[in-house]
Amino acid sequence: MCGIVGYVGHRDAYPIILEGLKRLEYRGYDSAGIAMFDGTNLKVSKTKGKVLDLENKSTQENNINGTIGIGHTRWATHGVPNDVNSHPHYSNSGDLVIIHNGIIENYESLKKELLKRGYTFNSDTDTEVLINLIEDVKKNEGVKLGKAVQIALNQVVGAYAIAVFDKNKPDEIVVARLGSPLAIGIGEDEFFIASDASPFLEYTKNAIYLEDEEMAIVRRHKDVKIRKIKDDSLVDLYIQELQINLEQIEKGGYDHFMLKEIYEQPNAIKDTYRGRLLVNEAIIKMAGVEDNMKKFLNADRIIVVACGTSWHAGLVSEYIFEDLARIPVEVEYASEFRYRNPIITEKDVVIAISQSGETADTLAAIKLAKSKGAFVFGVCNVVGSSIARETDAGAYTHAGPEIGVASTKAFTTQITVLTLIALRLARAKGTISSSDFRRHLLELEMIPGKVEEALKSDSHIKMIADIYKDAKNFLYLGRGYNFPVALEGALKLKEISYIHAEGYPAAEMKHGPIALIDEQMPVVVIATKKGHYDKVVSNIQEIKSRKGKIIGIVTQGDKSVKDLADYVIEVPETLESLTPLLTTIPLQLLSYHIAVMLDKNVDQPRNLAKSVTVE
Ligand code: G6P
Repeated sequence: MCGIVGYVGHRDAYPIILEGLKRLEYRGYDSAGIAMFDGTNLKVSKTKGKVLDLENKSTQENNINGTIGIGHTRWATHGVPNDVNSHPHYSNSGDLVIIHNGIIENYESLKKELLKRGYTFNSDTDTEVLINLIEDVKKNEGVKLGKAVQIALNQVVGAYAIAVFDKNKPDEIVVARLGSPLAIGIGEDEFFIASDASPFLEYTKNAIYLEDEEMAIVRRHKDVKIRKIKDDSLVDLYIQELQINLEQIEKGGYDHFMLKEIYEQPNAIKDTYRGRLLVNEAIIKMAGVEDNMKKFLNADRIIVVACGTSWHAGLVSEYIFEDLARIPVEVEYASEFRYRNPIITEKDVVIAISQSGETADTLAAIKLAKSKGAFVFGVCNVVGSSIARETDAGAYTHAGPEIGVASTKAFTTQITVLTLIALRLARAKGTISSSDFRRHLLELEMIPGKVEEALKSDSHIKMIADIYKDAKNFLYLGRGYNFPVALEGALKLKEISYIHAEGYPAAEMKHGPIALIDEQMPVVVIATKKGHYDKVVSNIQEIKSRKGKIIGIVTQGDKSVKDLADYVIEVPETLESLTPLLTTIPLQLLSYHIAVMLDKNVDQPRNLAKSVTVE
């Protein structure tokens, strides 16, 4: 993963890069570094730890200033997180510096060659190999930096977004991309480089997103040109106007981004269905679906590919598509699918779900599906992301930037989009009656208000969190539409509190997990009124007889579970197919409060990253 930032222009680059790195910390946060040319010297400061540690270190040790620089926040792949392995990395001459997001897969063979030629290496990273390869090409072929980068990259196998500069030519930065995102912000006589546009939002709204296998040289007082790395051909510039603003990526008074994003869900869901869900006209309008209706209607099946929380949203959609639109659905981990030699035909519709739109495994699964002739539809949050561009058509979730590493509003907005698609297809196929369709539209429109209602249990949930925060294990159970919600609830707790948690279909409990239940085991059971209620109540009885502690997620006014459970958390009533949008809320809050009480880093949990651009 990793976040990269760069600047060349007329301003002091240091605060721009540092602030930019803070905004990109969601991409990795085990070490950070910065390199700047101050007019005379190249100054590099790097450290294990967060960007804040870098800030402390760099201001203490170096009076860093200058109008050109690059910075990096790391999620380690090659080499443990320590000062030496942190980026930027220099070439042996000390002239060239690089930051890199990705993996150079053939770095060992390249390194062997370079060692033979006398190069030495300080770090264990693949990146240090790349910068020395560039230096070697530059020297041996007598070419300029841009050309040397191009030749070197043509020898590289792997994935990268890189920025390189030469202290002897401190007017230009060379950037290139394959598999990891890279945006160029275009200002007045200045350029910004970053893994996404957030670091330069206050400076410019004009950006170019490099495509795979493209490179560019950004120079002071010059226009940017983009070339293909393979054959050097020029690429037409496509400058986009950015739609996000600074406010959307700030905490806005909340203690954590995660909490802010949990509370943003009523509006985020509204933004997702705005203009698509037209209750008065009793229609759903989605251009990406409309334009490809034939493909959807002729599909033998839908294959959903995704990772992490997005995969859970995919599992929910399996119930929705099959139940409402009567289309068979298979939900696949993208990482398994891509290497499984799966059977894919031209009559398959593949739906790829991804908040970031950059997840490497999902991207690879899409490419595979496309190569077999399937129609691929993307459900992404980040506009202009790689997956949004790689898919044949798609629908954005419009959740706004999600910064907290644990996904919250992305999940509920993904479910919202998938529900809209399923309803639209159900209508087109005639698998839903007009009255049922209208009922769904009305109910979906009411979901934001009901999410708000569910959020009112926050302090009650906090009290429950306090009681169970020291538990070593948690079990989450749900059935039908709420089985994936149980998985998602367990994932949220694991991710941010580091408490072991497992999600299970409630009825499967008797085939194993029941052996774990004793008086130490809190079991979160989703037992809303619709959807196998009586059966889930029986499961609760079984847990109770084994002295497990029960936290029930129930429909407002429920009596039976309340009598059995240690605690209940109520959510408003809705249609069964829409319950995941409500039952998810208390589970997000429960994990949030437990993590805060355990003093964990909620927004940046250890070992994780928001956008996983490596395999
Ligand atoms: C990482 C994140 C998760 C996310 C998953 C898939 O693991 O920490 O929150 O669900 O990647 O990401 P995507 O951007 O494809 O939804």
